[in-house]
Amino acid sequence: MIETNGNTIFECQGISKSFGGVQALQNVQLQIGKGEVHALLGENGAGKSTLMKIIIGLYQPDKGEMVFEGKPYQVRRPSDAINAGISMIHQELNPEPYLSIAESIFLGREDSYGILGFLNKKETDRKAADILEKFNFRMKPQTLMEELTLAQVQMIEIIKAVSCNARLIIMDEPTSSLDSEETERLFKTIRDLKAKGVSIIYISHRMEEIFKICDKVSVFRDGKYVGSKSMEGVTRDELIALMVGHQVESVFPKVDCPIGGEVFRVEGLSGKGFDDISFTVHAGEILGFSGLVGSGRSETMRAIIGLDHLKKGNIFLNGKPITIKNPAEGIKQGVCMVNEDRKIFGLCLGRSLRENISLPNLPARQKRLLIRQKREIEETKDAARGLSIKAASIESEVYSLSGGNQQKVVIAKWFMANPKVLIVDEPTRGVDVGAKSELHTLICRFAAEGMAIIMVSSELPEVMGMSDRIVIFHEGRTNGEVLRKDILSGEATEETILAKEFGQ
Ligand SMILES: Nc1ncnc2c1ncn2[C@@H]1O[C@H](COP(=O)(O)OP(=O)(O)OP(=O)(O)O)[C@@H](O)[C@H]1O
Ligand SMILES: [Mg+2]
Repeated sequence: MIETNGNTIFECQGISKSFGGVQALQNVQLQIGKGEVHALLGENGAGKSTLMKIIIGLYQPDKGEMVFEGKPYQVRRPSDAINAGISMIHQELNPEPYLSIAESIFLGREDSYGILGFLNKKETDRKAADILEKFNFRMKPQTLMEELTLAQVQMIEIIKAVSCNARLIIMDEPTSSLDSEETERLFKTIRDLKAKGVSIIYISHRMEEIFKICDKVSVFRDGKYVGSKSMEGVTRDELIALMVGHQVESVFPKVDCPIGGEVFRVEGLSGKGFDDISFTVHAGEILGFSGLVGSGRSETMRAIIGLDHLKKGNIFLNGKPITIKNPAEGIKQGVCMVNEDRKIFGLCLGRSLRENISLPNLPARQKRLLIRQKREIEETKDAARGLSIKAASIESEVYSLSGGNQQKVVIAKWFMANPKVLIVDEPTRGVDVGAKSELHTLICRFAAEGMAIIMVSSELPEVMGMSDRIVIFHEGRTNGEVLRKDILSGEATEETILAKEFGQ
């Protein structure tokens, strides 16, 4: 058995796991201290989520042993982990749409069922209200999960874990759909937990966060354990080199290209969550949208593409008025959107990589049935290679890819449809540094070919690094614009943009 000292809360050794032909983990180890915030770092597909799913009993390892609080730790199913004191906030959030907040918080907890095995509604609502109050979460316990934004669902998951009295909490990219304010709130929660002796495994591709909040870091590469370091004294470049095995150039390789005439214009758009929005995008231009989560950016985009109801306003493509009733019609007219929630809008998880990537431009190909498949295979291979999508083959089903690799498939899919206007909402969510830079290069390449790009992102460095112009949203309205030259000259900074996001 593993010998642990008193400061270690969790340790595992010699863990291996393979899925069919893919060796996701090979003889890895991890040691977590009490009250420690421990970062797990590695490229997309390095095996981070797989190890975490083993720890919480979603997967069984092929080999290896684990020790929790000094005792051998074995889990058959997630409820075993929760009862032992280990909780996980998943990378892919899967809320039950028709459960209330209160039911979600108490679901699966032994202490919350009455004698007949039913949740006591009144009692759970009351308890949930107390918990929500403690977290400053201003929503009724009866609210259905389907009414929540991604950020709110995530917050409920965190609240759930904390209220289960977990001593080890795994957070798999917890901030990927939070805005800066919500992220700060999460960090405060993490610090409070740490002060109470709770340990946290923190997975994130955002390096700044790891430096801000973590004490130690362990690095994984290609399913193998590379090493652990104390965050004190380690540099960003050292960590990237450990992770990637080579140096990565700039994260925002923006290429300035000539900006042409107007391609897309909206006037006076109003709908649920946004009011009187007007803007123009030109050929070759990357128009960034920044703002807090819930400020109306994504809502505006969803209404443009016909996913939500547009109450008022006009849309013009190449100067001509158009209406887009639904996303399929948008694709036909040349307006495509990569949505922030890839699971619902972006991907068919049960289909192969090839089928997913070639889906939107199928009509163009159906005419020439014979050469269709061969071309499709070639193009998919090119796209997969260009974005270094890690998969056993292009016939692999998409659900089996790591989170970041799924995101790359979504982007590849829409790029291959070759639209006139491409709306990308959180394009690099959950994507590792290397791939991020590849995606950014790709976005620039398409802009250079004359596509008009609209990019919504909660990561300020990303919007600032990539946009020719930034539109700032505040509470459903636009609150100013920033030009690239102002950013380059230092006249516009993260602080001035944030101030506008907060309505100043
Ligand atoms: N259920 C599954 N079936 C088949 N292969 C899988 C499955 N889950 C994970 N894999 C494979 O295991 C490898 C590791 O994936 P994992 O999700 O652990 O990566 P990750 O480090 O979390 O990446 P990311 O940063 O993109 O989330 C990948 O090659 C992935 O395709
Ligand atoms: Mg993952």
